[in-house]
Amino acid sequence: MSLNDDAGTDVNIAIIVVVVVVKIVIIVYVCNRRSKMQRTNPYVEDSRFIPLTMVKFLDDMERERPIRFTSQQLRIATENFSILLGSGGFGTVYKGIFSNGTAVAVKVLNGTSDKRIEEQFMAEVSTMGRTHHFNLVRLYGFCFESSLRALVYEFMINGSLDYHLFKSKNGLNVNVLLGFEKLHEIALGTARGIAYLHEECPQRIVHYDIKPGNILLDSKFCAKVADFGLAKLCNRDKTHITMTGGRGTPGYAAPELWLALPVTHKCDVFSFGMLLFEIIGRRRNMDVTLGESQQWFPIWAWGKYEKNQLKELMRVCAIEEKDEQVAERVLKVALCCVQYRPETRPVMSIVVKMLEGALEVPEPLNPFSYLFPGVSEAGDSLAQIAWNAGGSDWSSSEVVTGSTVVTGTPLMRRYEITMA
Ligand SMILES: Nc1ncnc2c1ncn2[C@@H]1O[C@H](COP(=O)(O)OP(=O)(O)OP(=O)(O)O)[C@@H](O)[C@H]1O
Ligand SMILES: [Mg+2]
Repeated sequence: MSLNDDAGTDVNIAIIVVVVVVKIVIIVYVCNRRSKMQRTNPYVEDSRFIPLTMVKFLDDMERERPIRFTSQQLRIATENFSILLGSGGFGTVYKGIFSNGTAVAVKVLNGTSDKRIEEQFMAEVSTMGRTHHFNLVRLYGFCFESSLRALVYEFMINGSLDYHLFKSKNGLNVNVLLGFEKLHEIALGTARGIAYLHEECPQRIVHYDIKPGNILLDSKFCAKVADFGLAKLCNRDKTHITMTGGRGTPGYAAPELWLALPVTHKCDVFSFGMLLFEIIGRRRNMDVTLGESQQWFPIWAWGKYEKNQLKELMRVCAIEEKDEQVAERVLKVALCCVQYRPETRPVMSIVVKMLEGALEVPEPLNPFSYLFPGVSEAGDSLAQIAWNAGGSDWSSSEVVTGSTVVTGTPLMRRYEITMA
């Protein structure tokens, strides 16, 4: 072996030693830094969430995780909760803007922040925050402090669908902007969002409260389903949702939610069908100001369909001739979705295909025959009692209070896993 070879080997060994030492120093430094941060910032302990102070260090992938905000940060963003957007069964919603310009909707949840439920709360929020789809409202993060329990959502500039469908200004409907074509797109987007929750995301999410108020519209009036996962997250009091009590909103809630029958994801299909009727009619399904036969739109619409009087339906609903074909398809899908028996309702991916026109809609059976045994003409008293489950307000967030039985094992119930 030559002198040159010896020198070369020494240099190689020296390089290896230097590399190993540098690596050890880096590892020790990183570990030290981590434990220091964990001591000063309790939120780092929970790797499911990103504390806001660290956001700027994280790449886009990590930003997919929900962020934990402090009440102070939310107070600043919302200017001390001064811009009210509205309120519902779970809490009150305020507009906020973060210093980087991101607009948010902060939903301050009713009830107290019991330390004992913190872990469960975070588990649910973690699932909701990781559920991403174009037709779902994005959950950016949450706050869980003794003084504040809140959810932070992306802000939807055009508000909720019910506003555009039902609110009128000086006698004119403000939804002049939303023609039937756009409404059909919104219906389709909503169906895609629900189909994702039911059939595509890793852990099935049953919404339980599909209604126009929970369909929000972005700057291009694209539909985004809001409040998914909330039914499970929030234990509503007497008038609100619980896992053991009734769920949903009267007028949209499926029969199995207010009768002691097994509940599956098909309850969302039913509510979606009710939403479709409201899109076709551009009115609330129940309107006591109208003549008796038209008070309950779904039954009136079924009557028109059954008697082949769709021209009259189109005229009453002010649907233009160019939209009639699509409107008829939407009506048939609505009738399929609100079938009494959950197993005869289609799954949402099929609903999407039918609304797209990619799949022919089968001739629907009368979905309301069970309400009027032996009566063919639409009466209203029995229907109102049954469909209102004893309540009287069809438009509020108040929920039905019938008993609910969810099929499956306790574990399946826990994760809302239901059989198809
Ligand atoms: N992400 C959001 N962006 C913009 N506005 C929102 C957002 N979330 C909610 N809002 C507004 O706040 C209002 C109240 O919402 P909230 O969810 O509390 O009530 P709801 O949808 O009527 O009833 P429910 O409690 O059954 O969901 C909505 O009608 C909507 O106008
Ligand atoms: Mg809502």
